Amino acid sequence: MALTIRLSLFLLSSASFVCVSISQKVGGPKGPLTSHFIDWLAAHGYEQDQFERPEIGPNGSFGGKRRHGEQITNEPVIFIHGNGDTALYTQAPLATGWSRKVLKGGELIGTDGNCSLGPPLTKHIDTFLGISGPNYGLCVCQLAQTVPAWCNALDGLYPGYTCQDQMLCGYTAGNCKQENYSALLEKLNNDSAREAEHVYAMWSDVDEVLLFRGLTWGKPTSRIPGMNGRWISDRNSHIAMKDLTELRQYEAVVHHSI
Ligand SMILES: *[C@@H]1O[C@H](CO)[C@@H](O)[C@H](O)[C@H]1NC(C)=O
Ligand SMILES: *[C@@H]1O[C@H](CO)[C@@H](O)[C@H](O)[C@H]1NC(C)=O
Ligand SMILES: *[C@@H]1O[C@H](CO)[C@@H](O)[C@H](O)[C@H]1NC(C)=O
Ligand SMILES: *[C@@H]1O[C@H](CO)[C@@H](O)[C@H](O)[C@H]1NC(C)=O
Repeated sequence: MALTIRLSLFLLSSASFVCVSISQKVGGPKGPLTSHFIDWLAAHGYEQDQFERPEIGPNGSFGGKRRHGEQITNEPVIFIHGNGDTALYTQAPLATGWSRKVLKGGELIGTDGNCSLGPPLTKHIDTFLGISGPNYGLCVCQLAQTVPAWCNALDGLYPGYTCQDQMLCGYTAGNCKQENYSALLEKLNNDSAREAEHVYAMWSDVDEVLLFRGLTWGKPTSRIPGMNGRWISDRNSHIAMKDLTELRQYEAVVHHSI
């Protein structure tokens, strides 16, 4: 949570750019951060925030101006996901929810405490792309509200106990209005503030983490209210949705099409 907030606040500063990479692929961008950027971070009070990520290796973070007068030609892009690819069930499913919450601002009421996130950041964010986010909760949590903890009804992925006349979240037969699901998600989806000027979502019909064809009470859980476009894969795994869709991610961020 703390890391997510810091990354988002960081977008507000246009003095430089950063790409913080959590998983590293061979042949990826070359780190570390430039010394110009490290100086800028220190000068603006971010020295303690560990943007360099040396524990991940020399490419843990990358980017920054090489010298003071260098012109920035690209917009900053921030990638936010969970604890790394091996810990999917502990953190990653919530990453999209947290980042949407951070962008929309307001009060956060959580199992581990409350905090105020301030006004929405929408006017500073050009594009938000939510990939395979459980935005309306997950059906695996219907009967498991307390175990595991990430299924909880306050700030977890609880989808609600029933949906009007429907009783089985994963095998919903008719149209229904989802109610009393995770309070964090319900408030987030009710909140008319936008995540960004351009909002996109993508998901996969065969996502092995979301399960049930990515549907919660018969509708795609990864949809985002007010989204400007979406793309649905019929073959990608959960991880492949992030790792193998770079051209689509690029199109969404740079050309606003998906
Ligand atoms: C860092 O990235 C560069 C450029 O892609 C690569 O040549 C190098 O092997 C990477 N180093 C590590 C330790 O991953
Ligand atoms: C957080 O806010 C809720 C609702 O206002 C309140 O019931 C709860 O006690 C608060 N939790 C903490 C840790 O302050
Ligand atoms: C939703 O929760 C509220 C408060 O706990 C309760 O009064 C209401 O009956 C619930 N609605 C449904 C449809 O379960
Ligand atoms: C979300 O909006 C619905 C419909 O307007 C309302 O019934 C529900 O109480 C709202 N939920 C929250 C958590 O604000």
